[in-house]
Amino acid sequence: MRGIRAVILAAGEGTRMKSARSKVLHELFGKAIVSYCVEAARESGVRKVYVVAGSNRAELKKFFGGSVEIVHQAKRLGTGHAVMACEKALRGYDGDLFVLAGDAPLVRGATLAEFRSRFSKDGAAAGILTAELENPRGYGRILRNAAGEVTGIREDLDADECEKDIREVNSSMYCFRAKLLFAALKKVTPDNRKREYYLTDAISILAEQGEAVQGYALAGAAELLGINTRQDLADAAKEIWKRNLEAHMGAGVTVVSPGTTYIEAGVRIGADTVVHPFTHIEKDVAIGKNCSIGPFAKIRAGSRVKDGAAIGSFVEVVRSTVGENTLVKHLAYLGDATVGRGVNVGAGTITANYDGKNKNRTRIGDGAFLGCDTVLIAPVKVGRGARTGAGTVVPRGRNVPAGVTVVGVPAAVLKSKNKLKK
Ligand code: UD1
Ligand code: CA
Repeated sequence: MRGIRAVILAAGEGTRMKSARSKVLHELFGKAIVSYCVEAARESGVRKVYVVAGSNRAELKKFFGGSVEIVHQAKRLGTGHAVMACEKALRGYDGDLFVLAGDAPLVRGATLAEFRSRFSKDGAAAGILTAELENPRGYGRILRNAAGEVTGIREDLDADECEKDIREVNSSMYCFRAKLLFAALKKVTPDNRKREYYLTDAISILAEQGEAVQGYALAGAAELLGINTRQDLADAAKEIWKRNLEAHMGAGVTVVSPGTTYIEAGVRIGADTVVHPFTHIEKDVAIGKNCSIGPFAKIRAGSRVKDGAAIGSFVEVVRSTVGENTLVKHLAYLGDATVGRGVNVGAGTITANYDGKNKNRTRIGDGAFLGCDTVLIAPVKVGRGARTGAGTVVPRGRNVPAGVTVVGVPAAVLKSKNKLKK
């Protein structure tokens, strides 16, 4: 197979989102819309990715760092014009090129890989990923001749009554021989209702030249969804939500109530862990094996929960590590905490991690036992095997030594003339 690169179109203004942020950077279950598309391309074997940006150029540059090449489309003159903006960056490149829409996050890497291999096998000049839709309104329609060969794409706005009845639509995901594409784009003119340079016109131009143009109906309707509105965003979220849960269940995690469990992108969970109802696990969380999570737990980004630990009802954990076999079973808040193994965190325990200016760390040693309603004012440490009585408040910096029991407000060592050891 020839080499493959990908151009992702993301310069659109996204006006229908009614947002100050670039549409493609809106989060979908913990990951930016455009990242899904970039990752699907990478999964299918693409190394080099170009993202076409417009007024969102600075935002996209910052977001991607150097991981993709940002190409600037100075004026928004249509999808064909957007691809043309990449001509310079791709000069001399003689391989294949995916062109994908940055606002279509549901396409799977496996679908693109299959698309690419069919395209290669057929020796096509252009391939279009298509789908049959019940309601094709708004999409470009795939035009085929009597022999079933693709002859072009008609935009919804430009379609006549007959063409509007066609249910096979353009996904806006293509594979091209790069050189042939750029030559064809030079011939595209903006003679359509929107006065834009349509990428779709490159298809009819190539077909007229006698090049092989193929439509592949590989994608289900769900993979096509383009996000234009907040409603679309919610619809896409439903799909990603389902996929994330399926992936975890497939890896041996019990999800007791899929309908009330939210697990964002980029979460790892070990086998035989049980996730109970009404639980929300944010991106960038790793949970070990044999854990019990929830019900009503919130595990936020940057958290690590080790094997055999239990995070129970109404517990919030953020940027914290919870050690092996540690129990945090009811009504607790662990923020910026490092909790050792075999710790018992009593109901109502709070790490007071924010002093109004800074977030501070709390460290709790292995085997410690925190009585109900303990407040640990960070930065502070509780030594190995130390104990706190119910309602204890440990002030910042007043570390509790290993093996010692403290009680009261402020915490004082039990049975030692009420003096707190430093
Ligand atoms: C496009 C297709 C249509 C297809 C549909 C699938 C064209 C002419 N039409 O229509 O056949 O069924 O997608 O969703 O291509 N963009 C730029 N620069 C521009 C214009 C657009 O980067 O100057 C980007 C947008 O950010 C977006 C993508 O290209 O990611 C598609 O553009 P959009 O205007 O949404 O095209 P549709 O009208 O949806
Ligand atoms: Ca669109």
